[in-house]
Amino acid sequence: MSSTVTAIAIADAHAAPFDYAPGSIDFPDLPNVPEEYRHELIRLMAIQAYSEEKAATEGIEWIANAPDYKRRRVFAKIIAEEARHSYLIYNLLERMGVAEKQAIAIAEGRAHRPMHDASLEGPLSVGDESNEWIDIMLNHMFLDRAGKFMVGNFCEASFKPWAEANQTILREERGHIGFGFAELRTYLAEKGETNEARIKISNWYAKGLNFFGPPSTSRGARLSAYGLKRKDNETLRNEFRAEVEDVFNELGRQDLIELEKNDFPYRSGNEG
Ligand SMILES: [Fe+2]
Ligand SMILES: [Fe+2]
Repeated sequence: MSSTVTAIAIADAHAAPFDYAPGSIDFPDLPNVPEEYRHELIRLMAIQAYSEEKAATEGIEWIANAPDYKRRRVFAKIIAEEARHSYLIYNLLERMGVAEKQAIAIAEGRAHRPMHDASLEGPLSVGDESNEWIDIMLNHMFLDRAGKFMVGNFCEASFKPWAEANQTILREERGHIGFGFAELRTYLAEKGETNEARIKISNWYAKGLNFFGPPSTSRGARLSAYGLKRKDNETLRNEFRAEVEDVFNELGRQDLIELEKNDFPYRSGNEG
């Protein structure tokens, strides 16, 4: 290549270095992306890794408490998959120079900007002492379903290694949602139309809606421009809401997802 051609190639590279198309940025590109891109990417990945870790650790005691052997086996596999999801993302962060401890500090809001409390109330309430098996299954039915929309969005991200990890995660989350739904159907068939069922289901539905975080801000537009979050929180939340409504319409049980407060933070009115 002549030196003139090389000079033009470098000039072009400076004019439009990144278009942020899905999967267009890899590890070797990271030193050249804007500092803000790296900052936002690390924050999103740290929050995801932390949520996946909580999904594994908060639910782990239910391996021993599952109602029978078959459910114990399926549930143990789910916990192992959640642990692997968190490992996949922490591992990528480590390769970017962010240690696990540092990532946890970012996710918990001790570094960067704090997160809104209501976003993580779902994952953090999986370990509540008052929970029953059905609560754990409703967590998979609602929180993993909300997660499916977020993870699906991350599959389109501009940072290729993260997008690819999310494709693996998405496949497994679909299985978790299916198990949660099957267990919900069994529960409704056994328990019938109880007020307790309506309370529990509406509570976990509200937690699922809150999981998307507060309505989008100007930061959302920046994340979209960088190809880190192509759809904003509100769009994803509405997709989740439409799917949940379809599921309960099909069950003929729309009454089970009643909200008292229908904006962020969402509330069922049943929290005890
Ligand atoms: Fe997961
Ligand atoms: Fe899951």
